[in-house]
Amino acid sequence: MTLPIAVLASGRGSNLAALLDAHAAGKLPVAFKLVAGDKADAPALRNAEAHGIPTLALDPKTFASRREFDEALFANVAASGAELVVLAGYMRIIDAGVTAQWHGRMINIHPSLLPKYRGLHTHRKALKAGDAEHGASVHFVSAELDGGPVIAQARIDVRKGDTEDSLAARLLPQEHRLMVASVDAIARGTVREHDGAVWFHGRPIAAPLRLDASGSLAAA
Ligand code: GRF
Repeated sequence: MTLPIAVLASGRGSNLAALLDAHAAGKLPVAFKLVAGDKADAPALRNAEAHGIPTLALDPKTFASRREFDEALFANVAASGAELVVLAGYMRIIDAGVTAQWHGRMINIHPSLLPKYRGLHTHRKALKAGDAEHGASVHFVSAELDGGPVIAQARIDVRKGDTEDSLAARLLPQEHRLMVASVDAIARGTVREHDGAVWFHGRPIAAPLRLDASGSLAAA
């Protein structure tokens, strides 16, 4: 059982790198069909090329509308044979018609404990609010930005003296573990979307799953 996936990324690509590492270690039952994005010079795409994975960068400026860009991009994703799309630092809002087509088959990682702090500057917002805890979420993608059903979360404590940079740096390794565990659970069929909810081992979850010490997802 191997799940064909496409990864969309706009930048650095450390979450993609975490998926590639897990796959290389024989721990992630996926096949990387395509790594694509909106920035031709993204390090994520270079890394994919180095791994022999097909890549594609489309320039939004050469399309008349968001919808046309997204339709072109996702036509390529579909043609790749991918059955799951993983947004890993993909910095564009996706057209609602396209998100509907990929309903239950597209996930995103977001650096906050959703539903808190959708959009940008999540570390700043957590600090400003005086939160004792911060974290990252992996969710199924809906038409609403960072708004679909949350699959799982990783949490970290906010420490005295934390800055946006220190929080981001401490959260990133947890994001990577969360990303790998989430893709792994979908690939193995233990997590799926059904009727707008996340199902885990055949039952809807009441709260986001959490990472256990071994890096697997567990009921909260
Ligand atoms: C991560 O913080 C992710 O949560 C957010 O964008 C960042 C991407 O980092 N959506 P990378 O490109 O995977 O290194």
